[in-house]
Amino acid sequence: MVQRTVLVTGATSGIGRHAALHLARRGHRVFATGRNPGLLASLQAEADAEKLRLEAFEMDVTDAVSIEAARTRIEASAGSVDVLVNNAGYGLWAPMSEVTDADLRKQFETNVFGLMAVTRAFVPAMRQKGSGRILNVSSVGGRITFPFGGAYHATKYAVESMSDALRLELHPFGIDVALIEPGMINTNFAAQTVSHLAAYRTSDSPYAGALAEADALVEKAERFGVDPSCISEAIAHASEARRPRTRYVAPLRSYFGIFFMKLLPTRWVDAALRAFSGLTRAKLLSGRRSSLPPAVA
Ligand SMILES: NC(=O)c1ccc[n+]([C@@H]2O[C@H](COP(=O)([O-])OP(=O)(O)OC[C@H]3O[C@@H](n4cnc5c(N)ncnc54)[C@H](OP(=O)(O)O)[C@@H]3O)[C@@H](O)[C@H]2O)c1
Repeated sequence: MVQRTVLVTGATSGIGRHAALHLARRGHRVFATGRNPGLLASLQAEADAEKLRLEAFEMDVTDAVSIEAARTRIEASAGSVDVLVNNAGYGLWAPMSEVTDADLRKQFETNVFGLMAVTRAFVPAMRQKGSGRILNVSSVGGRITFPFGGAYHATKYAVESMSDALRLELHPFGIDVALIEPGMINTNFAAQTVSHLAAYRTSDSPYAGALAEADALVEKAERFGVDPSCISEAIAHASEARRPRTRYVAPLRSYFGIFFMKLLPTRWVDAALRAFSGLTRAKLLSGRRSSLPPAVA
């Protein structure tokens, strides 16, 4: 197997951390980056204990100076990266009619503009070399939308279409672009999402009745979720295969979710999603009696 030089963003927890260690254990040289110095040190310690070729250091994908410092460091020691895994991201859950511009912009700054800034930093060296791979961690949520997830889904839909364009545009330069589309994976993601939602779970929110159940929904989702190994396997395949797939959906059951939601009439899917998310008159009235217009006969 050819050993690659791989850069992983958002490697301080969850999918990024798991994938960085998995790739290093498969013999690749891994630059594992993130924001939290303590978590980077613990990742480095774990890699050192196993004598892995992994270097953990800081890179904030929303900070141009930080990206440039990481690029200079990587290119000084390795020349260029063979594989860029754009994984850093978080989920902002908030009702679309309530979400603030500031929160929406921040969500796009990380999940979209951050991903693109890192990509632009590393593409020139790949282009010069005539080879390279960019693996963008999108989501099943880049193909289907859940209520209260509109801000997050919008970023992942953006990642999907930008990756499609990049794949076409970079192909002549020998650079492959693949999308990694995780379903529900048990990481810090859900807890982070609930913490961002906190600002919108006020008692006077028109959605208070539905949002009150967010913790229970997260618990349900986590029972359904799997550990990140299937995503690390997908990332390893996309890094190593002679011809990577254009999209990797994992775990397998997420394929069926996408398939059925696309197959069924939209109004049926809407009704199921509303019931699942507490978007019923009864539930909303339980949160704030004055917020709904009279029932339509
Ligand atoms: N878990 C799921 O069910 C799921 C499903 C579909 C897609 N995804 C996608 O998978 C990716 C990884 O998420 P995860 O599940 O592993 O969640 P996670 O455990 O919360 O990890 C997210 C990582 O991204 C990092 N990050 C966030 N903002 C950053 C920034 N500005 N610069 C650098 N790093 C930053 C976080 O670092 P900090 O600790 O510094 O914030 C953390 O290391 C995300 O793109 C997410 O959208 C996850």
